[in-house]
Amino acid sequence: MDKALDTATIATVKNASWSGSVSHRATAGAEWWRSGVIYQIYPRSFADSNGDGMGDLPGITSRLGALVTLGIDAVWLSPFYKSPQKDAGYDVSDYCDVDPLFGSLADFDDLLTEAHRLGLRVLIDLVPNHSSDQHGWFQAALAAEPGSPEREFYHFAEGKGVNGELPPNNWLSLFGGPAWTRLTNIDGTPGQWYLHLFDSSQPDLNWANPAVQAAFEDILRFWLDRGVDGFRVDQPHAMAKAAGLPDHPDVERAGAGFIEGEASPPMWFQEEVHPIFRRWRAILDSYEGDRAMCGEAYVLPLSFMAHWVRQDEFNQTFNFRFLNSDWNAKTLFENINESFEAFDGVGAPSTWVLNNHDVIRHASRFGGLKIKPTDSDGVGPTDPQPDRELGLRRARGATLFMLGLPGSAYLYQGEELGLPEHTTLAPEFRQDPTFARTHGKRVGRDGCRVTLPWEAGVGAANGFNVTGASWLPQPVIYREYSRDLQEGVAGSTLELYKLALALRKDLRLGEGSFEWAEGLVEQNVLGYQNGDILIVHNFGHEPVALPAGQIIASSLQGMTAGHSLAADQTVWIRIS
Ligand code: GLC
Repeated sequence: MDKALDTATIATVKNASWSGSVSHRATAGAEWWRSGVIYQIYPRSFADSNGDGMGDLPGITSRLGALVTLGIDAVWLSPFYKSPQKDAGYDVSDYCDVDPLFGSLADFDDLLTEAHRLGLRVLIDLVPNHSSDQHGWFQAALAAEPGSPEREFYHFAEGKGVNGELPPNNWLSLFGGPAWTRLTNIDGTPGQWYLHLFDSSQPDLNWANPAVQAAFEDILRFWLDRGVDGFRVDQPHAMAKAAGLPDHPDVERAGAGFIEGEASPPMWFQEEVHPIFRRWRAILDSYEGDRAMCGEAYVLPLSFMAHWVRQDEFNQTFNFRFLNSDWNAKTLFENINESFEAFDGVGAPSTWVLNNHDVIRHASRFGGLKIKPTDSDGVGPTDPQPDRELGLRRARGATLFMLGLPGSAYLYQGEELGLPEHTTLAPEFRQDPTFARTHGKRVGRDGCRVTLPWEAGVGAANGFNVTGASWLPQPVIYREYSRDLQEGVAGSTLELYKLALALRKDLRLGEGSFEWAEGLVEQNVLGYQNGDILIVHNFGHEPVALPAGQIIASSLQGMTAGHSLAADQTVWIRIS
């Protein structure tokens, strides 16, 4: 029988006080990625073994034990490949080697062996839309003539205007500024232009070229042969461009990234990408074990994103609808309904995610900021500052609410410590290209990428290393979030994450079912049931009386007296 339909989770309409609610059937015993919790490691900032201020692979290996204790199933490593680091490693100059900043291939093999020994799976980040301008392919293209096979690896074009002085079309870079850069020929005359949807150091590859496709299939095999459990794929919806690279119909939006409801933008989600991922999936499936691919497919609504996780394409995509949710009952109700409806419809798991290395940490976002997480704009010292206490209380509630949902969940390093965004980082430390390309107008994403505090007071970076060096300085307040201060301390954010992850595993909530809880779907309170566990959050300001049952987890310590739910609190209740 067909695998996905066998474990199918077909959405059915139920009654609730708001219309259009769905339920979801359990998927017991299915593949790991359908229910697994995947923890994102940002190698630059996780742990630094050699004290140079930059995290590295041996640092990660040495700290994997802490992730086992946390209770996750897999890690996703952001890029560690050879790279000039113009976009923190998302500008790759050799897809099959490790940057000396992070170690060597042997260090990677050690990391993988140790992770597998500890029972953790390892996904790595593949960046196929663009390479670095220092990649051998781009260097060869620069040295070759217009029209040559080398130039066909990328999007080179003649400019418009009498002397080709205008870019070939009106597209803009997502990081700000133009999406085209003009070359200078060896003799000093102006030459062709090349396309880069991101930084000028990140030329877009030409995915219509079979040679590019073949090269990446080899790259996939290189890492699968080494034993990786799969890939997180960067910007997959950008890879194919409309033939002839036509102007964007709305110049105001040409550099804004994907905008929901927009009719066929020429640089996003062209149909030609799908056969590419079908071939990739076939390659993954030809390897033993359960290898998986998660796509950063930024396409909405979710009914549209669901096309990317049809049975023979990606296994998962990030649920950007959930990530972008305003923290209120109605929006979450709608977004969760949309998620189950879309993903169940194609037999794929929904993922649930609140943080990553591109968005403002939820412990700050929920502290009263009026900013969408995926705006990539960050918070600077002169912006309104979040309320730390409120943010953390809500973030803990949000995480506990999320971790009861069936499907797969993504965590981003540091959220288990309740880390806030670094919102006062001085301009001279900013490294995100967005900052420079917009002349500081958008501060960028550095604030969520700061190094992790492991041991309070061990160097200025609190045990990130022993020297205290840190490529982005930690704010003073990070000391109080250090892991050692939270380990074994009742009520700490770390212990809350551990408890939730352990219960999620024991009770098999990831493989479980979903339905909205009778009488707990309204403006101030939202509750759902996963089997006999009731998960409920209070969005209002007044305490809410809870149904009978045993409280097994609470996002606020000691606040469940009298069986009532405080503002911003989530609890899990066993109701049978
Ligand atoms: C993805 C990455 C982001 C990077 C961009 C370009 O969105 O998550 O960090 O800057 O792609 O590669």
